[in-house]
Amino acid sequence: MTSRAVQFSRFGGPEVLELVERENPQPGPGQVRVAVRAASVNPADWKVRSGAFARTDAPDHPVVPGFDVAGVVEAVGSGVTTPGVGDEVLGGASGGAYAEKAVADASAVVAKPASMSWEVAGSLGVIVSTTYRVLALLDLRPGATLVVHGASGGVGMIAAQVAASRGVTVIGTASGSHQDDVRSLGVTPVVYGEGLVERVHAITDHVDAVFDTSGKGSLADLVEIAGSADRVITIAHPDAGEHGVRFSGGGTGDPEIEGALAEAAGKIAAGFWRAPAVTTYPLEQAAQAQEDNRTGAVSGKLVLTP
Ligand SMILES: NC(=O)c1ccc[n+]([C@@H]2O[C@H](COP(=O)([O-])OP(=O)(O)OC[C@H]3O[C@@H](n4cnc5c(N)ncnc54)[C@H](OP(=O)(O)O)[C@@H]3O)[C@@H](O)[C@H]2O)c1
Repeated sequence: MTSRAVQFSRFGGPEVLELVERENPQPGPGQVRVAVRAASVNPADWKVRSGAFARTDAPDHPVVPGFDVAGVVEAVGSGVTTPGVGDEVLGGASGGAYAEKAVADASAVVAKPASMSWEVAGSLGVIVSTTYRVLALLDLRPGATLVVHGASGGVGMIAAQVAASRGVTVIGTASGSHQDDVRSLGVTPVVYGEGLVERVHAITDHVDAVFDTSGKGSLADLVEIAGSADRVITIAHPDAGEHGVRFSGGGTGDPEIEGALAEAAGKIAAGFWRAPAVTTYPLEQAAQAQEDNRTGAVSGKLVLTP
């Protein structure tokens, strides 16, 4: 049986993405195949596509982008007892989610709450797992003060709310037009850019840590706000090494991830936390969706709905 997928066979701009008909991927041991209902675009998707993370000129096989998936399990590999065929799940895909059919490790997906839309479900994997990983590294106690740099973004919104729910006081940076969005998360908003240090100091004279979710702006400012480089973690800033700041990259083996997804999905479905706004695109418009995410033309989560 065949189904459609978006893939690229050489690194480059959005034009390298092509919609193809391919053999359905088969779940290996410990994996499930999902009939995809939603798959979100993350900045990592177009960074990988551009070759930014590559050591060679071309990928050694066609690459299907997409780390986040939500859909219905339609086949299970050996050793999988849960989820089962027919279950609605959300989480992380292995081998690409921009497709009608995607494979995921059974341990990387959790039950989709019945009341949650497919679009929201398909946008949670990366932003939730990244949030929980970095907050575990920062190890903040209730009463601590955290600056989330980029609190209007996908990771930043979730990070601000998870930290606040743990009794942490959160100050969130965003552009001028997103100050109200950040405030509505129960977070003190502040405009990023020149003068940020002074604006934060006008709010508080002590910050315990900074979580840089945006990777933009002055890292020196964030270090000054935190008081020392070891109290700053970035997930995206290219100058991390130069400033002695920890860079936390994504990957497998994060023990928090499974519990994180179930907790965050439950809190969002129950209305305690807000998920980023979602804009949907058909699979045919994957290139446009990546460009809109890269340029910031559309904010919130951009989600492909095959
Ligand atoms: N290492 C990892 O594990 C990992 C995991 C996930 C994501 N990431 C990376 O983290 C970054 C953010 O991902 P995301 O999905 O949250 O992106 P996103 O939803 O596009 O959010 C980007 C955030 O950056 C803010 N921003 C834009 N221009 C800025 C500037 N000049 N100074 C400060 N902040 C600025 C935006 O604020 P406004 O919208 O208000 O302008 C927004 O809050 C990406 O680079 C992504 O590749 C890394």
